[in-house]
Amino acid sequence: AAVVRYEAEDATIARGAVESNHPGFTGAGFVNYDNVTGSYVDWTVDSPRAQTVTLTLRYANGTTAERPMDVSVNGTVVSAARSFPGTGSWTNWATATLTASLGAGTNHVRATATTAGGGPNVDSLSVDDQTQPATDWS
Ligand code: GCU
Repeated sequence: AAVVRYEAEDATIARGAVESNHPGFTGAGFVNYDNVTGSYVDWTVDSPRAQTVTLTLRYANGTTAERPMDVSVNGTVVSAARSFPGTGSWTNWATATLTASLGAGTNHVRATATTAGGGPNVDSLSVDDQTQPATDWS
């Protein structure tokens, strides 16, 4: 299957800022969520058909406190208050994966902070599209 990466800095951002001061991100930067409940990044993901996919969020959390987020697809929470624990530093990026169903056509995948700390810094969302051929042999 083909993995497509959607950068957070290219998504719709509510109460967050695109920054690039902590290296290790892909693309032009990452999203620094405001430290408030309800801050979010919303990615538009097109799917040629309905399918079950693996979603991978790449993030960094330089604190020792969790930065939980609800992950929703088309408005339905598919992972409630998913834990995004500390990664050791703001330059140490980690991934969190979950499985979700996409519909045919345009989908919205949203990661919304559920505590006053806001979300972690979020670099990207990768979608393992099962309907597309693999791009390599690995
Ligand atoms: C620091 C860090 C930011 C981070 C913020 C936070 O200011 O430099 O990248 O987003 O802490 O706690 O959310």
